[in-house]
Amino acid sequence: MSRLVCVSNRLSIPRKEASAGGLAVGVLAAMRARGGLWFGWSGDLVEGEPAEAELTIRSPVTYATIDLDRGEHELYYAGFANAVLWPTFHYFLNDLRYSEAQYLAYERVNALFARRLVPLLKPDDVIWVHDYHLIPLGQRLREAGVDRRIGFFLHIPFPHIEVLRSLPVYAELVRDLAAYDLVGFQTAADLNAFRAAIEHVYGPEALEPDGRIRIGARRLQAGVFPIGVDVDALQALAIEAQHHETVKRTMTSLLGRKLLIGVDRLDYSKGLVERFQAYERLLETHPENRNRMTLLQIAPLSRTDVRAYAQMRRALEQSAGRINGRFGEADWTPIRYLNRNYPQSLLMGFCRAAQVGVVTPVRDGMNLVAKEFVAAQDPADPGVLVLSTLAGAAREMTNAILVNPYDAKALAHALQAAVRMPLGERRQRHQALLEVLRRNDIHAWHRRFLDTLEGDPAAQASAVRA
Ligand code: G6P
Repeated sequence: MSRLVCVSNRLSIPRKEASAGGLAVGVLAAMRARGGLWFGWSGDLVEGEPAEAELTIRSPVTYATIDLDRGEHELYYAGFANAVLWPTFHYFLNDLRYSEAQYLAYERVNALFARRLVPLLKPDDVIWVHDYHLIPLGQRLREAGVDRRIGFFLHIPFPHIEVLRSLPVYAELVRDLAAYDLVGFQTAADLNAFRAAIEHVYGPEALEPDGRIRIGARRLQAGVFPIGVDVDALQALAIEAQHHETVKRTMTSLLGRKLLIGVDRLDYSKGLVERFQAYERLLETHPENRNRMTLLQIAPLSRTDVRAYAQMRRALEQSAGRINGRFGEADWTPIRYLNRNYPQSLLMGFCRAAQVGVVTPVRDGMNLVAKEFVAAQDPADPGVLVLSTLAGAAREMTNAILVNPYDAKALAHALQAAVRMPLGERRQRHQALLEVLRRNDIHAWHRRFLDTLEGDPAAQASAVRA
């Protein structure tokens, strides 16, 4: 079997602080299963041209990391990746701030990744590039003479062509994606949007009847590979976490009130403002819930040097403060709003203890918290998932209570239905959701992607059809 080389902006290096995003968890599972090289940013900033990659061996994974120049990182990460690509791909054109300087830095950082990676490659490696930070990397590797199979997986949504076209460099990005052998997406909607973008840039003849894409002499594939979770590992963590001191103390402090939980990076795509509004409405319209429930919103800070994130943080602080001021009592805080990260072992304990999981992004590629919440539940007495129709996870998790997060009345109603749902219905919905989780778990995700990339005909057929 050829060696797997994964490339991502952020890595999950043992002993460093855990990353709050889904990408690192997914790539780590693939790397652990198969071993290989994981190349990416070290998390450290320097002044000037960064040195060669530093290798850390934690068998079966070798981590190869490079530092980035502080100014370049600002333009590439806070700039093009998170103030241009992230808002555009999540349909937030109001937050789009385009500057050519940022795009050029994004190009330079991708070229640097390629320069530092090439000397580490072996002849039969299979290369898997992850996410929107590294769209041009495949093309840069091709230009450096790399002719091995190179795949790309987009963890976030791919926007409709009319939204994508708002980006002055959209055609360059589509051409960069066409340099890969396989481009993978979370949902069929993302795949269709990508195919429309290919048609727009290359014309209808690029789309072949069998679902493949042909550009000149090159052919590539695009498919749907919904990312999942490690169900057994999460279940074990959740069972163990019940005995964790912090979980026990938290449960005692609720004095028997119902627990609603949200766990999200502090990001405008996560629908937190809308969620707080709906919760306020619930307390307003169903006063019997006052002093009977608590919303625990865990929201670790993220991308704090991007303006839209700082604005969002102020809005949430105001909203939580207002709700607690309006409804709170000496012995009851309606929202416990925490800007901190917890280890997954503890989060799973909180999720298992909660009656309702509130996962209501206004746009999300997949959202693994939805899947983690379901995996954490006790099948004999499971909590209920309230899930946004605008999360990729909603395409698979149709047995959640699905709701449009922009509709405060409907969301308040969904929360009320969730806290009141009888045991029989909770069990039946949970069982159906768990089946979905098992079918598309984290192992299925990386196996299907890599089998397709490496040319297994059965996997290819299913990816093209998906
Ligand atoms: C999302 C993205 C990931 C990213 C994560 C954390 O899940 O899809 O690529 O790793 O957010 O974002 P950060 O900016 O902290 O790397």
